[in-house]
Amino acid sequence: MTQVEEFYEEDAAVYDDKRFKGFSGKYEARLHQQYLQEFLKHLPNEADLLEIGPGTGRFSAPIAGQGHNLTAFDLSHNMLKEVDKKLERNEVNREVNYVQGDGTSLPFSAETFDGCLLVNVTSHLPDADSVLEQISSILSSGGYLFINFPNLSGVYHPVGKYVNYHGKSVQEDVFSRWYSYNEMERLLKTNGFNIVDEFGHMITPRREFPLLNKGIVYLDRLLNGRATRRKSGYIFFIAKKE
Ligand SMILES: C[S@@+](CC[C@H](N)C(=O)[O-])C[C@H]1O[C@@H](n2cnc3c(N)ncnc32)[C@H](O)[C@@H]1O
Repeated sequence: MTQVEEFYEEDAAVYDDKRFKGFSGKYEARLHQQYLQEFLKHLPNEADLLEIGPGTGRFSAPIAGQGHNLTAFDLSHNMLKEVDKKLERNEVNREVNYVQGDGTSLPFSAETFDGCLLVNVTSHLPDADSVLEQISSILSSGGYLFINFPNLSGVYHPVGKYVNYHGKSVQEDVFSRWYSYNEMERLLKTNGFNIVDEFGHMITPRREFPLLNKGIVYLDRLLNGRATRRKSGYIFFIAKKE
């Protein structure tokens, strides 16, 4: 079992509470759902979608609920069980295909999917290039990728340098790697993707520091992710396979 797998097998039971309960966690979760809807606008009805690292399924539920055919692919067995529970709680009756495995070695045939999601996962990949190459291959031509990454070239640059130096997240005891905006843009391009939309927001600390977290959220709202995009803590891209 890899260190990341071991971490998420344990984290599955507390994942949502730890991240999305507080003031800033709820704010971040809402923003991500808005970005997801922007991504889904690019896809046909009943699209075939692959979600790599769905975690507890905060995107899986709306995706399946909106009638898409979802394959949920995760390192962690416990996370896949959480996805199933979330679908049940949300009364989503559409069948989901659960596959446990490692995204660094995707077991799917070429041109299988219309879209792929890789959200809050790139930081756990030592070699995003190889994963993007595989995603590009399993997507049909004209398919879409929804991807994000903690931005090494953003306002949290010193934090990212620290993370990359130690190979470990500052918030959790798990392997982490940040990518710069230009690096991720280049990796996408060299693997046949064109960026068609992008969003950005600040990262707030997971612990609640009321004044600091509120300050960051209000600033983020004020700037609406536009002025700061390339400098944002987190960058999201919607990219099209050409
Ligand atoms: C931070 S969570 C993100 C979950 C979800 N996408 C979200 O945004 O809430 C990372 C998830 O990716 C999974 N994961 C990490 N590395 C992976 C890999 N190499 N292959 C497949 N899943 C992976 C973890 O098990 C975990 O469920």
